[in-house]
Amino acid sequence: MLIEGLHLEKSFRTRYVETKVLDKVSINIGSSEIISLTGKSGSGKTTLLNAIGLLAPPDHGHYRVKGEEVDLSNIASHHRIRRERFGFVFQEFMLVDYMTARENVRLVASAESSRLEINAKIERLAAELEIEHRLDHYPPQLSGGQRQRVAILRAVMNSPECIFADEPTGNLDSRTGARVLRLLRSLKSKGCAVVIATHDQEIAESCQRQYQLTDGTCKEITTN
Ligand SMILES: Nc1ncnc2c1ncn2[C@@H]1O[C@H](COP(=O)(O)OP(=O)(O)OP(=O)(O)O)[C@@H](O)[C@H]1O
Ligand SMILES: [Mg+2]
Repeated sequence: MLIEGLHLEKSFRTRYVETKVLDKVSINIGSSEIISLTGKSGSGKTTLLNAIGLLAPPDHGHYRVKGEEVDLSNIASHHRIRRERFGFVFQEFMLVDYMTARENVRLVASAESSRLEINAKIERLAAELEIEHRLDHYPPQLSGGQRQRVAILRAVMNSPECIFADEPTGNLDSRTGARVLRLLRSLKSKGCAVVIATHDQEIAESCQRQYQLTDGTCKEITTN
């Protein structure tokens, strides 16, 4: 198993109230599995992706990567795991506006590769995502769908073992959306798992396994 989350809990505290968004949530992600995460708006999909992606780790619970327990309070180890193993496609893209698309992607590229290798990889992936003609544009000069594809390009750049994609087709027309999904699915053959948070039932059902979030709990939906 690539990632095992057991009884994960996550609460948000504001001055007056504490809201428990994840209440003993358990979720497993196998190597090269494609998994969907559904649930109505506010049910905690983004919170769960950020928790299992160790961006905003759970407060409590057990979390293992490839069988090894990760200390949920050890921020430095989370940083390393994210950098070496994970890629993220954020719901709001999180691109740096004053850097071009290419620079945004280069920013995350592993320091071990040469500039030439990095550029070649960016060009190849950009062509797959049909964004190669926009690499030297700045995010504000791009459409929502183009920004999303740059965000996906950045997520796949370091050949991660798992990609967490938050509504990756939310801003795309159906043809581009299908293309993005094809690209995410093609990562399977490269040994990459993908967790997709989505409102789109069709996408959810096309994944190998489905989890659904309701009122802080998460259950796996079994389909025959
Ligand atoms: N930083 C935060 N501080 C306080 N509450 C938060 C914070 N982040 C999320 N929440 C709350 O946690 C709940 C779950 O939010 P989350 O963004 O995970 O939902 P979601 O399922 O991704 O929704 P959507 O489908 O609209 O993207 C919401 O009630 C939200 O208000
Ligand atoms: Mg969300």
